Amino acid sequence: MSLKACRVIDLPKITDPRGSLTFVEGARHVPFDIKRVFYLYDIPEGVDRGGHALKRCHQFLIAISGSFDVVLDDGIEKRQVHLSQPYRGLYIPPLIWREMENFSSGSVCFALASEFYSAEDYYRDYSEFLRMVGQYQS
Ligand code: TYD
Repeated sequence: MSLKACRVIDLPKITDPRGSLTFVEGARHVPFDIKRVFYLYDIPEGVDRGGHALKRCHQFLIAISGSFDVVLDDGIEKRQVHLSQPYRGLYIPPLIWREMENFSSGSVCFALASEFYSAEDYYRDYSEFLRMVGQYQS
């Protein structure tokens, strides 16, 4: 999968004097049906997360609070995306390695996923990931 398939998507944002509201509808605002939601919070300063690629699962990451960086890697090139707005998310298709870093204090990463959790869906070994994407590219 090429890095070009990863993209930042702006979500609807409805603001009135009471504040703002953003919503996400599966297969409308994100390019997959949503089967699972998870979120990362209480992240200690200086800690990195991610460090994996998924075989089948599509994900969409939102900095619901605070900010963080996502480093995307398709095995050939890398790109860093800074997320800092609750109405903007990053779509990551399968077979993209991602590292998440520079979490601001109190930040929360909200994630939507196309699949239920499965440990078998993960590449957690970077060399194995490179071998796998190399096979696809050759
Ligand atoms: P992990 O994938 O290491 O988190 P991150 O990539 O965000 O740094 O997940 C941490 C633990 O949580 C690991 O034991 C797997 C488990 N987990 C679930 O049980 N269900 C889930 O939906 C997710 C995302 C993780």
